[in-house]
Amino acid sequence: MNSNQIRKQFLEFFKMRGHAVVPSSSLVPDDPSVLLTTAGMQQFKKYYTGEADALKDFGSLNTASAQKSFRTSDIDEVGDESHLTFFEMLGNFSFGGYFKTEAITYAHEFITSVMKLPISYVTIFGGSHGVVKDEESRAIWNSLGITDVREEGIDDVFWGPTGSSGPCGPTTEIYCRNSMGQDIEIWNIVFNEFFYPGSREELLGGSDKKLQRLSSPGVDTGMGLERLAMIAQGVPTIFDTDLFRDLFDTFPSELDERDHRIIADHARGACFLISDGVRPSNKDRGYILRKILRRLIVFEHRAGEAINMFRAVAPLIVGAYHGAYPDLHLDTILIEWDKEKAKFLKTLKLGLKELGKIDAIDARSAFRLYESYGLPYEILKEMGGERAKALNRIDFEREFAHHQEISRAGAEKKFGGHGLLLDTGELKAKDAQELAIVTRLHTTTHILQQALRSVLGTEISQAGSDITAERTRFDFTFHRKVTPDEIASVETLINEVVRKDMPVSFQELPKEEAQKTGALYFFREKYPDCVKVYYIGESLDSAFSKEFCGGPHVRHTGEIGPVKIIKEESCGAGIRRIRAVLAH
Ligand code: SER
Repeated sequence: MNSNQIRKQFLEFFKMRGHAVVPSSSLVPDDPSVLLTTAGMQQFKKYYTGEADALKDFGSLNTASAQKSFRTSDIDEVGDESHLTFFEMLGNFSFGGYFKTEAITYAHEFITSVMKLPISYVTIFGGSHGVVKDEESRAIWNSLGITDVREEGIDDVFWGPTGSSGPCGPTTEIYCRNSMGQDIEIWNIVFNEFFYPGSREELLGGSDKKLQRLSSPGVDTGMGLERLAMIAQGVPTIFDTDLFRDLFDTFPSELDERDHRIIADHARGACFLISDGVRPSNKDRGYILRKILRRLIVFEHRAGEAINMFRAVAPLIVGAYHGAYPDLHLDTILIEWDKEKAKFLKTLKLGLKELGKIDAIDARSAFRLYESYGLPYEILKEMGGERAKALNRIDFEREFAHHQEISRAGAEKKFGGHGLLLDTGELKAKDAQELAIVTRLHTTTHILQQALRSVLGTEISQAGSDITAERTRFDFTFHRKVTPDEIASVETLINEVVRKDMPVSFQELPKEEAQKTGALYFFREKYPDCVKVYYIGESLDSAFSKEFCGGPHVRHTGEIGPVKIIKEESCGAGIRRIRAVLAH
């Protein structure tokens, strides 16, 4: 089945079962708390909460859609085997019409009877945060003959809320095997039982806000069309499906597979964003569009003046999708492309001229060229040749992250004078209660950094951190994803240090002497002549962790209590981001 047929079969299947087929909403959502549409359920938020009436609007309590979606969270991973920014999500939804039994039975029937694919295993919610284990879903799967039912935690199988508040609930996911023998999650079935009056971060961070039961529970399901096509077509990656193969044929053959994937992904994203009215700019969704367009322009520039990959590929994208998405508008897409290309080529050339004047390009000068001329790291590295030999991505990204830290701290000082009791740029607390929590999280952050170094190696270094009463967020340089086992080791190590109730102290030392102690510090930071070195342990020499730091910290690590790592993700090339929370 080609992807157009799969999309059609999906919508047909649910139509036959009493669902109203609703067109995809725009990539620009109505909901002001969300930048772009990232899931099929977004246009239906108000039907779950009862603010709107599905029967009145759709003639049914149940709907189905193929939704254009765009996620920026994985933008730096695009180029590998599985990540995309733009993708399509097939989904069926119910707003008080049916619940677990029907939702699971429909999904099972569609996968096994219509698509004729075996299910490798499914997951259910193991229970936490006051929500019970989903034994009901397990029983339904078992009754359908699926016995490999795995329990997962809140990070993986609890959806939502999207934006600053909304419906959410436990999920059950379906995994199928691809031609490489890997089990891939293809369908996420969400049971929206709750409304959460805050963000997902607040929910995971154990904020005081409570889950509220929705008056009638709903169903929200999402299945990536690209992944389903990969499994159905028996190909090893999404890029081998019919959705991408034709596009790749138009690219110069001297570019490698990774480049092809990035160009195809970004070109698809750009076509859909522009058609939904987004225009390149320096903020919000306009900036996302600008970033992907500029990346494409650099690819073209590198391939040579005569190469016009985007103009070749855009008509194919519009041609392949116009049946399903009649809003795609080739003329507008090309007009916007030409405008941005003309504009950026000018600065690109000026920037290259400026680049020519620099003898040795280091992270700082590279970052300045990026800021003034929008020259991305790749082109600086390539065009700089010998002179950019010392430049590496880690330093560049560190400069970037550091700069963001400075501007964020500055912005908060400027706009954040709204009664914060503490605002060091890194730590924020509005009252004494929050201050106590961020102090515990601050010491946690020091332990976390040292634990990461113990587990991953001392080449990792801090790229930024941000601590609120909800959680600590720690960015560090590292070239790959941290595995679940490594995360578990880091978490265990942190909790060991907490259990040992080690003393936390500081010593004030002249800067040079402080550096000799082996304490960690930011290379680029301008430190005063005399600095405080905070250390965890009996003495500075034998300390588990030592860092240049202004405090505040707890006196003994036992005050922190159990710590949980809730998320690890990429936040820029070569930079990982970890979030940890206090369990009590
Ligand atoms: N909202 C869920 C998801 O995006 C299911 O549709 O995965």
